[in-house]
Amino acid sequence: MDTPIYILGIESSCDDTSAAILCNGKVLSNVIANQEVHSKYGGVVPELASRAHQQNIVPVVQQAIEQANITKEDLCAIAFTKGPGLMGSLLVGTSFAKSLALGLQIPLIDVNHMQAHILAHFIKDTNYKTPPFPFLCLTISGGHTQIVKVSKYFEMEILGETIDDAVGEAFDKSAKILGLPYPGGPLIDKYAKLGNPKAYAFTKPKVSDLNFSFSGLKTGILYFIQKQQRINPNFIEENLNDICASIQYTIVEILMDKLKKAIKKTGIKDIAIAGGVSANSEIRNRLQLAQKHFGWSTYIPKFEYTTDNAAMIAITGYLKYLENRYSDISVTAQARLKVTD
Ligand code: KG4
Ligand code: ZN
Repeated sequence: MDTPIYILGIESSCDDTSAAILCNGKVLSNVIANQEVHSKYGGVVPELASRAHQQNIVPVVQQAIEQANITKEDLCAIAFTKGPGLMGSLLVGTSFAKSLALGLQIPLIDVNHMQAHILAHFIKDTNYKTPPFPFLCLTISGGHTQIVKVSKYFEMEILGETIDDAVGEAFDKSAKILGLPYPGGPLIDKYAKLGNPKAYAFTKPKVSDLNFSFSGLKTGILYFIQKQQRINPNFIEENLNDICASIQYTIVEILMDKLKKAIKKTGIKDIAIAGGVSANSEIRNRLQLAQKHFGWSTYIPKFEYTTDNAAMIAITGYLKYLENRYSDISVTAQARLKVTD
């Protein structure tokens, strides 16, 4: 039997406080404390987020250790999110990870949140086939929209990315226009299941190469809704399912069009998705269909490893641990960090 290597992962880049324990790449626990406080503000309030992280971090880490049935003395290393994200939120996880690593006299490993979303595919799970190198990863989250070529664990290249809003923002801002609370992405997904995706047509943006743009779509949706409301003030209430289905269909079409282009350009047909928006049921369905119809091999992570979670931080930490890639205690949080950094 392999020597057990226990890694604690800590994630605090935005509005979720999460801690996970992995043993040799397998998840023993993955605790996530969501912050309900932001929903009434229509978006994440940075100051409230860092305060909530401060309250949550100790109990969340304690719970992760208890659920894994180990003690903190069993830990071999501590991995934490260095960035990108909200500075105040990142600082809570960073300083906690540093103090615990110092106290336990074990290695500290900094993790790039964007790489972690992608490397979540390498969490060991008997029911999950990991993608072979090289593969293309469509990273779709609240802050990012990218097509990344992944040649090795830590060798990534951005082939295309958004020039304005991220796809998660397109979902959340559209939801806000419809009067839905933050984050609206999962709600659009829920109502879309009951609606007709072809009920309303929204113009898709024209962006060159493999780049994306979502700000025009958001404006198009706003003007469309305002126009319809002038005719019928109850337009949203009476047609919510169809509106959500049509918005979701347009967004997923934009993503699929670019993926097809990327495959044509690179010849790589192993396609993975990552990030919070990859929880979306329509994108998951469409990728499964593409597997059947276009001969792609698609890799869709388990639902719980798509939105922000510490298991993805811990697996990235484990892969770095195997390569002895530790951080110095002077390491600092970085609000801006590219997937290639
Ligand atoms: O990766 P993530 O948890 O946080 C960031 O790093 O941004 O992604 C959060 C984003 C939010 O915009 C949220 O609305 C979106 O993912 N999201 C969804 C779904 N679940 C989460 N968007 C569409 N459909 C979903 N089912
Ligand atoms: Zn994320």
